Amino acid sequence: MASSRTLSRQLGGLLRGATGSGSRSTGGRAARFVPARQQSTLPAVAAAHLNPVNGFVGAVGNTPLIRINTLCQETGAEIYGKAEFMNPGGSVKDRAALFVVKDAEERGLIRPGGTVVEGTAGNTGIGLAHVCRAKGYKCVIYMPNTQSQEKIDLLRMLGAEVYPVPAVAFDNPQNYNHQAKRHAESLDNAVWTNQFDNTANRRAHIETTGPEIWDQTNGGQLDGFICATGTGGTLAGITHYLKERSQGRVQCWLADPPGSVLHSYIQTKGKLMDRQGGSITEGIGQGRVTDNLKQEVSVLDDSVHVPDEESIAMVYRLLDEEGIYIGASSALNVVAAKKMAERLGKGKTVVTILCDGAYRYQARLFSRKWLESKGLADAIPERLQKYIVLP
Ligand SMILES: Cc1ncc(COP(=O)(O)O)c(C=O)c1O
Repeated sequence: MASSRTLSRQLGGLLRGATGSGSRSTGGRAARFVPARQQSTLPAVAAAHLNPVNGFVGAVGNTPLIRINTLCQETGAEIYGKAEFMNPGGSVKDRAALFVVKDAEERGLIRPGGTVVEGTAGNTGIGLAHVCRAKGYKCVIYMPNTQSQEKIDLLRMLGAEVYPVPAVAFDNPQNYNHQAKRHAESLDNAVWTNQFDNTANRRAHIETTGPEIWDQTNGGQLDGFICATGTGGTLAGITHYLKERSQGRVQCWLADPPGSVLHSYIQTKGKLMDRQGGSITEGIGQGRVTDNLKQEVSVLDDSVHVPDEESIAMVYRLLDEEGIYIGASSALNVVAAKKMAERLGKGKTVVTILCDGAYRYQARLFSRKWLESKGLADAIPERLQKYIVLP
């Protein structure tokens, strides 16, 4: 256990990171808080967006926190989604992409004109491709060939060199991450940013997302945070910040899709790593405890398993009831946030992450043929079937 002086020193560092020049956070000072349900037009925190920002990288972060009205009515709790799909590259991974590149620059691992190489299911690659264009680096991406065509096309349109490779386990030398590492080693002035085990990824959320959530809930007036993990950077970084800032008060839970081992790991306090089935969600689910997750995995209070049937139904529900068009990992997070709110009780406030938009997956998520091939067409309630507009 860290001493209270160590904790407050670390916290001071965190706050400086959150409020330093260039950050548009409202800082440790909470903005005047107007509960979302009472706001008419301009939310208090939106004031942070009124100043111009410096290029693409300046536009990363400071995303709105959206109250999910119908679920609040249903549960009697306050359920919010952090709108990470509003980052300039379209996902939560813009933050990690920016931090791993900044980290490589600060450590002297890359010089002007160099190449950034990464193994990524897509969104980190998209964030990296944007950041590389903005900073003048080349970008090379290795990804499992199971990922959506939209993401592969977008990466290429953003100027990245893309290698979709067979999806094999991490301990296989042909796994996309190992191939990315070898590619970087074969080039001069190139870095493998290693998003899974490079803790600059987690730091992005300690220094930005965590403080933003704190400020947007009027200085930490939240009871729970929950989200799924791919690299673990988002969950671990936000958990780190919220636990320290609230002195352990805020509950932090993992949300897990089928095919991931982490739910069983947390439920058995590290004894088991059961992997059952697979999932339609992309970018989440994990077969190991990454370095990004390592420090926080034992701090997590609980975990929730979410079947694909519930995630896909929530994609359609959020579109129909809230006008929010998000991907399956975000929908899984919202299902999990509702479960957490029901467990914590009426009047509690729970925050989750809306990782990216449905645009990246629409050819699948809204196709009858695809839904049927996954046995998920019947998971969409009758009244929402009208949104299945693609054959
Ligand atoms: C759509 C989507 N959701 C969630 C995540 C998980 O975020 P993290 O890697 O920080 O655990 C990712 C990661 O790539 C993603 O692409």
